[in-house]
Amino acid sequence: MNLKEACPVLHFSDLGDERGKLVVIEGGQSIPFEIKRVFYIYGSDDTVVRGQHANRESEFVLINVAGESKVRVTDGESEEIIVLDKPMMGVYIPKMVWKDMYDFSADSVLLVLASTHYDGSEYIRDYDEYLTEIKKI
Ligand code: TYD
Repeated sequence: MNLKEACPVLHFSDLGDERGKLVVIEGGQSIPFEIKRVFYIYGSDDTVVRGQHANRESEFVLINVAGESKVRVTDGESEEIIVLDKPMMGVYIPKMVWKDMYDFSADSVLLVLASTHYDGSEYIRDYDEYLTEIKKI
């Protein structure tokens, strides 16, 4: 898998003016799926690693709407690290890519858009299990 192609960085339009910034994200348009779920992660810091899973069904876009964090993605062979440090950028993560989020700044608010409603059974949280499943694809 070419991870740079599989997990593209997305740049959103900034519709700001002298009153401030405004970033619009529309499901199926600026991101490649219809949004079914939104969650956000804050109060993490540079001592924690979140994620540590792959999803059999869900696609995600991660956006640091405040502060910054890093996302490491791997397909079990290569890896890429994406620095999320602007509210008008995000990264798309397709199904079956392992992801870790870490190095959260104290003011980090990491917004996550998901293509599915939550179903814990589609999460692969064991890395060896992930390697076994990805090799079958
Ligand atoms: P978890 O997947 O561990 O978060 P992260 O990927 O950021 O490290 O989720 C933490 C808890 O929240 C876990 O008990 C599952 C629950 N959860 C939901 O109920 N719905 C959701 O949409 C998400 C993302 C998590």
